[in-house]
Amino acid sequence: MDSNMNGLAKSNGCEISRDGFFESEEEELQGQAEAWKCTFAFAESLAVKCVVLLGIPDMIAREGPRATLSLCEIVANLPTESPDAACLFRIMRFLVAKGIFPASKSARRRAFETRYGLTPASKWLVKGRELSMAPMLLMQNDETTLAPWHHFNECVLEGGVAFQKANGAEIWSYASDHPDFNNLFNNAMACNARIVMKAILSKYQGFHSLNSLVDVGGGTGTAVAEIVRAYPFIRGINYDLPHVVATASSLSGVQHVGGDMFETVPTADAIFMKWIMHDWNDEDCIKILKNCRKAIPDTGKVIIVDVVLDADQGDNTDKKRKKAVDPIVGTVFDLVMVAHSSGGKERTEKEWKRILLEGGFSRYNIIEIPALQSVIEAFPR
Ligand SMILES: C[S@@+](CC[C@H](N)C(=O)[O-])C[C@H]1O[C@@H](n2cnc3c(N)ncnc32)[C@H](O)[C@@H]1O
Repeated sequence: MDSNMNGLAKSNGCEISRDGFFESEEEELQGQAEAWKCTFAFAESLAVKCVVLLGIPDMIAREGPRATLSLCEIVANLPTESPDAACLFRIMRFLVAKGIFPASKSARRRAFETRYGLTPASKWLVKGRELSMAPMLLMQNDETTLAPWHHFNECVLEGGVAFQKANGAEIWSYASDHPDFNNLFNNAMACNARIVMKAILSKYQGFHSLNSLVDVGGGTGTAVAEIVRAYPFIRGINYDLPHVVATASSLSGVQHVGGDMFETVPTADAIFMKWIMHDWNDEDCIKILKNCRKAIPDTGKVIIVDVVLDADQGDNTDKKRKKAVDPIVGTVFDLVMVAHSSGGKERTEKEWKRILLEGGFSRYNIIEIPALQSVIEAFPR
């Protein structure tokens, strides 16, 4: 390799910039590959969204967990007269490379055809299964929820709420005015509640002693219904904004109550709050916690289900947590809070301790569960 007068190094006839900015040619090319990955990071989510909307994981799953389908068989299952098979082939080829579908070759009429199966990732994207991440994927990749991400630079420069900048209203009032978005959001929450409740009920023993429980911000009531199903002696109350409980189905052992947790919280032995605190800033969390404290007896508790950020992702003073789910997802969720909430954030243990104390809860335990979130059980005394 030799250099010319413009600071370009010649290698195999190609000219590569050699101004000393990169340490080596290898580093320069590796960096370029990473930058391409960042440039097109959205392609994976949106190609997956496409196949989930088309119901392709469901088509394969209907044939069995280890079944495979050819492109022709998939296309024959699509609801339109003449689908664009070549376009679908290109999308599937990309998703095979990304590990979303496995592809195998099988001989058919003296030719080979590609057959697509399910990987562990696409098994989670089957819409028709009780435990599915498809509704969450569809909600997080909806135009309404993606639009705020385009406003992060303005949020840094001038502050403000990304969701409001993109959609003209904060998320809960937007949901109340847009029934389709309200359903999309509530279904995503319900799908996550089913998954996380399984993890909670397998590891957390703190429901035994309760006769009544309010799920504050409980959405359409999936979580409290699961608790009551496991502990039928508990009287469950699902408490959420009126436009949310108005769409909830009736659930055995659960009473739906509409209201505002900043005003008041129904009384019970304990309060359950999953994915509520992370939506709010510290001052708002303290207000909600104070209302929870008023709603329970001195012997009561709040059971919070939320991410506890690893110390390394926070301020380095908390102990390192051992999580079942890659802790980096916690920091992604922190950005989801920048996109969708009005001041919410994920918190380290030290940050949790501060708001719990100020909210009237002097003692707490953190219980790890096989999920992204942990259970934080907090007591007034
Ligand atoms: C992130 S979702 C969590 C839903 C549910 N807890 C779950 O994890 O599946 C937050 C919930 O808080 C509710 N919420 C927002 N503001 C509220 C308020 N002021 N009072 C009661 N609920 C509220 C929303 O309607 C939404 O259902």
